[in-house]
Amino acid sequence: MVPMPRLLAISDLHVRHKANRAAVESTSDHPDDWLIIAGDVCEKAEDLAWVLDTLGPRFAQLLWVPGNHELWSHKGSEHRGEDKYLDLVRVCRERGVLTPEDPWAVLTIDGREYLIALLFLLFDYSFAPPGMDPEQAIAWAREAGIMCIDELRLHSTPYPTRQDWCAARVAASAERLAKEHPELPRVLVNHWPLRRDVVRIPRVPRFLPWCGTALTEDWHTRFGAEVVVSGHLHVRATDYRDGVRFEEVSLGYPRNWRPEMPFDSLLREVLPGPAARDEVEPDPRWHALGGPRRRNR
Ligand SMILES: [Fe+2]
Ligand SMILES: [Fe+2]
Repeated sequence: MVPMPRLLAISDLHVRHKANRAAVESTSDHPDDWLIIAGDVCEKAEDLAWVLDTLGPRFAQLLWVPGNHELWSHKGSEHRGEDKYLDLVRVCRERGVLTPEDPWAVLTIDGREYLIALLFLLFDYSFAPPGMDPEQAIAWAREAGIMCIDELRLHSTPYPTRQDWCAARVAASAERLAKEHPELPRVLVNHWPLRRDVVRIPRVPRFLPWCGTALTEDWHTRFGAEVVVSGHLHVRATDYRDGVRFEEVSLGYPRNWRPEMPFDSLLREVLPGPAARDEVEPDPRWHALGGPRRRNR
């Protein structure tokens, strides 16, 4: 009997932390499974290469989307903005790892085909309270002592602003999603969450402006998603909206996870995944910070 592949996912490996690096090294062999690595692996191209070289031989296929940390540049960095992103795409391609710039793969699981849509959509500050422009959103965060390092290190070159880059990525991705295999159920993969109401960050609520874009609020229904995979929040969770499963699959910083848990148990099964559940509507008391948590692993 041919073993059935599974589609697994993890994000926010942040391997500049020793404990996280050790966790990655402890991964078992999964010769039939595909693994999504949903951004924030590291800050340097050589660390991304190390992760891909470590995990590549243990999985049937790796898939990667960038997070904000990978896109950071420092003074004197060789690559900035889009150029930095494309350099990371090169690192992936040299290792046979799929990226948002490659043809989207069709994966058959349990006799059903799925389109695995790898996305890179960025953020545009529109998760801030309604009516705020980006400057006001940043000032609103600063009032609470919050300032995302993206403001200093995530350059938008050649786009005038990060929100312009985000708008361009969103427009091109929407066009692609409308065209490619519209008949297939999709797994949408993006580092940043696609909806504000799945963002649950009670410790730093004013980090919201850097968490995604309101432009993707309806993408789970508009583009026929079976599952939406994201990271960035360092708050692992599974939510349902309109019958679609939303998986937040972060590992996070060492303080965000328990080292006694085997790393393999933190690889979220995206497909075949749990049986369909009743939808849970967001509790209005949570307002922009999200609805009730269905499961948190
Ligand atoms: Fe992260
Ligand atoms: Fe992130």
